[in-house]
Amino acid sequence: MKCFLFFGVYLFLSLAWPSLGASARSDGVVFCYYGEWANERASAGRFGVSDLPTNLCTHIVYSFLLLDGPTGNIIAPKPTSNEGKTNYVADLIALKEINADLKILAAIGGWSEGSDNFSPVVNDDALRANFVKNLYEYIDSNGFDGLDLDWEYPSQRGGLETDKEKFVSLVKELKEAFTPKGYLVTSAVAVTQAHIDLSYDVTALNEHLDYINLMTYDLHGTWDTETGANAPLYPQETDAPTLNLNVNNSVHVWINNGASPSKLLLGLANYGKSFTLTSLENTGTGAPFDGAGAPGPYTGAAGTLAYYEICEDQQNNPSEWSVTEVEGNYVYANKDLQWVGYDNPNTIYAKARYAKEMGLGGIMYWAVDLDDFSGLCGSKYPLISAGVNGYNSCH
Ligand SMILES: *[C@@H]1O[C@H](CO)[C@@H](O)[C@H](O)[C@H]1NC(C)=O
Repeated sequence: MKCFLFFGVYLFLSLAWPSLGASARSDGVVFCYYGEWANERASAGRFGVSDLPTNLCTHIVYSFLLLDGPTGNIIAPKPTSNEGKTNYVADLIALKEINADLKILAAIGGWSEGSDNFSPVVNDDALRANFVKNLYEYIDSNGFDGLDLDWEYPSQRGGLETDKEKFVSLVKELKEAFTPKGYLVTSAVAVTQAHIDLSYDVTALNEHLDYINLMTYDLHGTWDTETGANAPLYPQETDAPTLNLNVNNSVHVWINNGASPSKLLLGLANYGKSFTLTSLENTGTGAPFDGAGAPGPYTGAAGTLAYYEICEDQQNNPSEWSVTEVEGNYVYANKDLQWVGYDNPNTIYAKARYAKEMGLGGIMYWAVDLDDFSGLCGSKYPLISAGVNGYNSCH
């Protein structure tokens, strides 16, 4: 347990020892999702391929390919170029010239894609074969190193009960098609036992997937009846003892269901979940709220704030913010009635250290473009750097 003796010293070390900063290489996997639509964001939020941290991420995942109806055909994102920044696939693949060890994958699916097209395709042998062929051709012809499946989620959100079994067929057939070229097949997955029961044959998936990306975030949000942190490592002080909605519990659930720890990557969120409080009488977790938090100035979505939107506003208006860090677990903060639960470099460090202690293969970030990639609040990529350092700190 020696890893846990050093909680809370990250800030001290990173100030006293600058070499722990952004140039560190991880001794585990650092899987960085890149939402290519970040190229459309305004001003300082605009993100291009040239912003990607090729020194910190071991794997970059271009998101998202979509399904072209229930046909087995796929739709690639439309390339864009804005104010000197691009999201072009050719520019992305060219990053391997900077770091020859970098792996670049494409992801298919996402929350908005849901199950409407995945389900009919995987349940039909001919459509599934067409899907596998199209995915292989896309990966192979563009120079990618693999594919990440982001079906959210088999047998849910309009899918069929048989999706759970046919998802395994899809993964197995993709792996067979990809093996001659050594391409990777990975998947992002939901993390509660209830989701596993509905969607995942863990033992079979574990056999065929190279990595399983645990989406250990979005554990609380405006679908709840009270405020809660996006991704608490351990239970929140206000949680009912039976709630079990935390990162530690999720990791144990996947391992107990048959996943190899070395194939699991711990999901880390470069964003917070925000709420508009009912009153200032209760500003903790478990507080009543009236609705989603106000949209951020760059990402523009109610209920979610990029880490750089949180840190920039706190830096510009320090006296208006009240920030509470539950050490080694989660952070929450409010400015008047605007409340956000999130991670800072200290909690990310603790979680990455936890991932190493648990024998996991590494860490995963949603999303690289939501960290402070341009250094608005200080040095660039504080959360990804903290995760790399946290994982490396435990031997
Ligand atoms: C982590 O989860 C496991 C399994 O649920 C539990 O036994 C353990 O006590 C948890 N650790 C902490 C510190 O809560």
